[in-house]
Amino acid sequence: MPPLSTLARAAAVAALAVTLSGVQPVLAACGTGLSACGSACYDPTVYTCIGTTLCPYGYSLCGTACYSPSQYHCSGTTLLQGGTTTTTTTTTTSSSSSATGTSYALSDTYSGSTFFSAWTFFTATDPTNGFVQYVSQATAQSSGLISAGSPTIIKTDTTNVYTSGGRPSVRITSNKSYNAGTLFVFDLNHMPYGCGTWPAAWILGPSWPAGGEIDVIEGVNLQTNNRMTLHTSSGCTMSSQVQTGSVVSTDCVAADNGNEGCSVQAATTTSYGSGFNSNGGGVYVTEWSTSAIKIWFFPRGSIPSDVAAGGATLTPSSSWGTPAADFPLGSACTASHFSSMQIVLDLTFCGDWAGSVFTCSGSGNAACQTYVGDNPSAFTEAYWSINSIKTYVN
Ligand SMILES: *[C@@H]1O[C@H](CO)[C@@H](O)[C@H](O)[C@H]1NC(C)=O
Repeated sequence: MPPLSTLARAAAVAALAVTLSGVQPVLAACGTGLSACGSACYDPTVYTCIGTTLCPYGYSLCGTACYSPSQYHCSGTTLLQGGTTTTTTTTTTSSSSSATGTSYALSDTYSGSTFFSAWTFFTATDPTNGFVQYVSQATAQSSGLISAGSPTIIKTDTTNVYTSGGRPSVRITSNKSYNAGTLFVFDLNHMPYGCGTWPAAWILGPSWPAGGEIDVIEGVNLQTNNRMTLHTSSGCTMSSQVQTGSVVSTDCVAADNGNEGCSVQAATTTSYGSGFNSNGGGVYVTEWSTSAIKIWFFPRGSIPSDVAAGGATLTPSSSWGTPAADFPLGSACTASHFSSMQIVLDLTFCGDWAGSVFTCSGSGNAACQTYVGDNPSAFTEAYWSINSIKTYVN
């Protein structure tokens, strides 16, 4: 373990690094390959943006200090010695390793020509105020927005202009509900991406937020790194997360902070959008046990053999590495915050998140709606390509 003086120096070096190369004041949009973080542009291969703070790539934020999760861990806003990825640590990583080693048995496979048979198409008004018209299965089929097969495709309208109502799209919910003790395995080749888009692959309990919400894949516009988030009823905060991603926020309660939730930003740009798609996608595995919710991301080409095989059983193991996001359940967030959850896939446009931060062509929600309505050809990348969604239970 490094002495505390090293700890202080590490934080100081990290803070210093942020003021050096690669960070420029933001003028209008950031240049090619750069992302915006608060008022700065930065190179996402060199830095990670957490909230509005830049940290060196792969670092996490604890209070106001950037730190390397291989050397330190964060308790509240205090940095403690001992990383989350070392194997010699004995007492510092209190989180939920107990779930690892549990064997799960294949329960459901959603794939191929019957992909849509056990899902319900949501056709009500988008609760997130998107510029979208969610269509029925019959309409989605007849207008070519869905096609079941190998792979299954779910897309949006890319030919028509919409001045009102919104761009037609699909939101589906699994008929089946799942309980704690489930692995959810999303094997995707491509995800919706682009200005105005807000796609999500998520898991939702009844009577929101009473039954909880786990956002496995979510982002907006030209976002580069995936955001994994929980939204819950009162009394749920996160600490001591053992993960490769960066903490964005730790209060999971939907009623707090404008429903920001407790959120983790994935460390790699292959986890979302353009980077995900150009790499052929990958596999997201979510383990929901009574001791933790953990999300692993395996980019195409780096999928563990047991996950790739997708056999009759699956057992999270050290060969999967540290999860991208770890949400420990226990006294600070009891397992009772999550119950009877269904899988949801959707693509909306603009609205509460994508619209409020839209800057592709003008800024804000109204500009976003105009852009989305007027530019059907801008949505050719706005599709899901799904090899399979599988669930395993124990
Ligand atoms: C799923 O629910 C929809 C209606 O919501 C129904 O049409 C469909 O038959 C159900 N599928 C199965 C396999 O139960």
